[in-house]
Amino acid sequence: MSITPIQEILAGRFEGQEVNVRGWIYRKRTSKKTIFLLIRDATGVIQSTVKAKTLAWREAEKITIESSTVLRGTVKKDKRAPGGYEISTNELAIMGLAETFPIAKDLSEEFLRDIRHLWLRGRKMNIVLRIRSEVLWLMHKFFRDRGFTEISPPMFITSACEGGATLFSARYFDQDLYLTQSAQLYSEVLIYSLEKVYTCAPSFRAEKSRTIRHLCEYWHVEPEWAFADINDVMKIEEELVSFVCQAVAKQCKPDLKELGRDPNELRKVKPPFPKITYEDGVARLREKGFKTKWGEDMGYNQEKALAKDFAGPFFIYDYPKETRAFYCKTYRDRPDIAMSVDMLVPKVGELTTGGAREDDKDQLIKKINEAGLHVQDYEWYIDMRRYGTVPHVGFGLGVERLLMWMLDLENIIDAIPFPRSMRRSYP
Ligand code: 4AD
Ligand code: MG
Repeated sequence: MSITPIQEILAGRFEGQEVNVRGWIYRKRTSKKTIFLLIRDATGVIQSTVKAKTLAWREAEKITIESSTVLRGTVKKDKRAPGGYEISTNELAIMGLAETFPIAKDLSEEFLRDIRHLWLRGRKMNIVLRIRSEVLWLMHKFFRDRGFTEISPPMFITSACEGGATLFSARYFDQDLYLTQSAQLYSEVLIYSLEKVYTCAPSFRAEKSRTIRHLCEYWHVEPEWAFADINDVMKIEEELVSFVCQAVAKQCKPDLKELGRDPNELRKVKPPFPKITYEDGVARLREKGFKTKWGEDMGYNQEKALAKDFAGPFFIYDYPKETRAFYCKTYRDRPDIAMSVDMLVPKVGELTTGGAREDDKDQLIKKINEAGLHVQDYEWYIDMRRYGTVPHVGFGLGVERLLMWMLDLENIIDAIPFPRSMRRSYP
């Protein structure tokens, strides 16, 4: 039996023809003479009608929400049907009869999180996950087309990359290790062989507060490359984000519309992005009534306020050294300023952090000490500065933050199928 994907029927190629459709019952409504079934498969949802006194009627009466089914019927154009086409059912077979499905209207958010394994079947998550897959693929394509080699970083690590506060410890035989926060330090090792590398891997952060933009386990895209400076970082970042937005706007138009996101908003994302210094950012914040002082980190509220000045993504660069990680290179004539840059987007705030890495051995050792870290934990990392050091840069982009902004999701948890937060690791 050949099966026709629902999307192809909705595209109008099968009008008047008999098709077989396989999927799950999404909605069911019974009237005296007709049972209306919405069937969903991976590609879409279509209405099918079952008329009284037909062979299919008895099965249709029995069938429940989320039962799996195969049906055969004739495709008809019908303006009233969602999607414009419906199937007039001739035969209907139940594969797996579902028990009473626990998802109905007006359920609490907490309950929906308990049954996320079932919630994931809904249209919203179907669309988000397909776009997520596309976005990941596009990012791989972007870097490969530019000669970057994908490398696989370790998940168990011995020393922190982004500060101790968000480190997860992990028991490793008789040793205490951590889960990685970033592949960066390992990618830096590999540029000495491959020059341009990138990773697409999970990062772990013990985020102790629940926010709409933090996960404890997220996917992190991190390129790292040699012979480049902070301007190259901004250039590649704006090209990457624009490339992904343009491609998704073009390829995923109906999906975006179904999510309520206007594809034209993504089409507006084009390089170059506006660029302001941290100093300018602080001045803007003070004008807006914030008491932020030079040298302080910017939080979510400050980022959101600054983002209001721009219609799309923008950069803030040249942060005070104190607000940045130990590995950041500083200007030789301004040792208090790090060659570090964040990309911010409306509503979400920080989408990336990147910049130049300290490539001088003595400077690096000084910075490790100043950060209160132990030099002996970073010997292998310092070796990169002992043996043929080169200027090099990189950045990290949170995949779920990118999706949250692109798809205008209310909460980051809907950008990943099985979110991990301080209070939730089930299912
Ligand atoms: O700013 P972060 O901590 O920078 C780094 O990890 C660098 N080592 C990256 C690099 O230069 N290779 O993290 C980078 C990005 C953030 O801008 C944000 O998008 C995302 O990772 N991110 C998170 N996303 C979701 N949940 C969290 N708890 C996140 N923490 C960071
Ligand atoms: Mg950051």
